[in-house]
Amino acid sequence: MHNRVILCGDLLDFTDDPAVVGEHAVRYQAQGALVIIDGLIVARGPEAEILSQYPSGFTLQRHTGQLIIPGLIDCHVHFAQTEMIAAYGEQLLTWLTEHAFPAEEKFADPAHASAIAKIFTTELLNNGTTTALVFGTVHPQSVEALFEVAEAKNMRLIAGKVMMDRNCPPALQDTAESSYHQSKALIDKWHGRGRLAYALTPRFAPTSTPEQLAACRDLMAEYPDVYMQTHVSENLQECEWVKELFPESADYVGLYEDAGLLRKRSVLAHGIHLNERELTAIHDHDTAIAHCPTSNLFIGSGLFNLKAVREHKITVGMGTDVGGGSSFSLLQTYNEAYKVQQLLGNKLSAFEGLYLSTLGGARALDLEGTIGQLEVGVEADIVVLDWAATPFLEFRLAQSHSLHDKLFALMMLGDDRSIAATYLMGERVSKDPAGTWVPPVT
Ligand code: GUN
Ligand code: FE
Repeated sequence: MHNRVILCGDLLDFTDDPAVVGEHAVRYQAQGALVIIDGLIVARGPEAEILSQYPSGFTLQRHTGQLIIPGLIDCHVHFAQTEMIAAYGEQLLTWLTEHAFPAEEKFADPAHASAIAKIFTTELLNNGTTTALVFGTVHPQSVEALFEVAEAKNMRLIAGKVMMDRNCPPALQDTAESSYHQSKALIDKWHGRGRLAYALTPRFAPTSTPEQLAACRDLMAEYPDVYMQTHVSENLQECEWVKELFPESADYVGLYEDAGLLRKRSVLAHGIHLNERELTAIHDHDTAIAHCPTSNLFIGSGLFNLKAVREHKITVGMGTDVGGGSSFSLLQTYNEAYKVQQLLGNKLSAFEGLYLSTLGGARALDLEGTIGQLEVGVEADIVVLDWAATPFLEFRLAQSHSLHDKLFALMMLGDDRSIAATYLMGERVSKDPAGTWVPPVT
């Protein structure tokens, strides 16, 4: 690839967590520019300065008056649940059997997996999500299909085949041994290929035997830089069930600790009903949590205690958790996260929220310095936000004058309509410069 691009617009990113270090972590540059060569940001600065330093040989992309931010990062999402997002009426355990498992069974068919992978990745990009940590299904072909599409689109994606050897429909069940061999073959083929990485994916404790968790641990030992993703402490009935299934462990997090699954690059989704010991253990193992507010509300799981998680200095990213989650949009995910914190008596600023979906997500995925910032040396996965996506949004956002309040209103009210453009490694991938949709690259 030999792209040479200059993006002009107002730049916003974070140098650190504004919840920890305050607003000087917020880096805003009105009328700025980014210079991109071969997919990497090589310079940033005021537009006038950049254009005089780099006068020719670049494709100029002008986003005058729009906000340029790092590509958004979704730390927890199920691509096989794309087709059943917004399924009515159930909480976690019956939602799985009534809605999620039937949708996942269809992924035995590679053609179905491939078709859904195209819709899923297009939807991510249309919503400004440039990287995601993704659950496939138990079928290796589901992950093959997703990686093939992500590779063709040049997306930085992390995914894995679900490991699930009990308490599920026979059609979705593997064994400790088959899950070991299938996961290993997928790692050997895909992990570290281009922008792709593999995540070992035991679904959650109730659907894996201790033998399967041991197989996962063995693969983590063999491949020290693969990811591990699972669910933890999402729903109270689930938590009770886990106590019955693993009576010898201290608690839910403790069973994953006992199984040897917690380390850096392990990402636990939800983490709503955690005790002090569990919070301390997650921090001590350098494990991250994916906060999934639309899902936690939609399937009625509970309110995530972000304050306690922060007090324990745990790394947190945001997850849409589609199809338990009700939107692919990380703007809408912030909208719900904000309301959850309101119910708990806490404030979650727009800056803190955008941090969680950019640099916070990069940190949760151990990718700081690679993605998540508008910084020299970082990959040019970039999103452009439009303050005037609809006549009403234009009117409403003009009423807010501080950057924070304007961004807050955009994140509360905006969605995929507010994404003016998405760039992967400096290449524009969703809307064309006139703002009309171009067909997804396949
Ligand atoms: N726990 C185990 N599997 C799932 C799933 O598919 N979605 C959610 N939200 N929670 C889970
Ligand atoms: Fe999930």
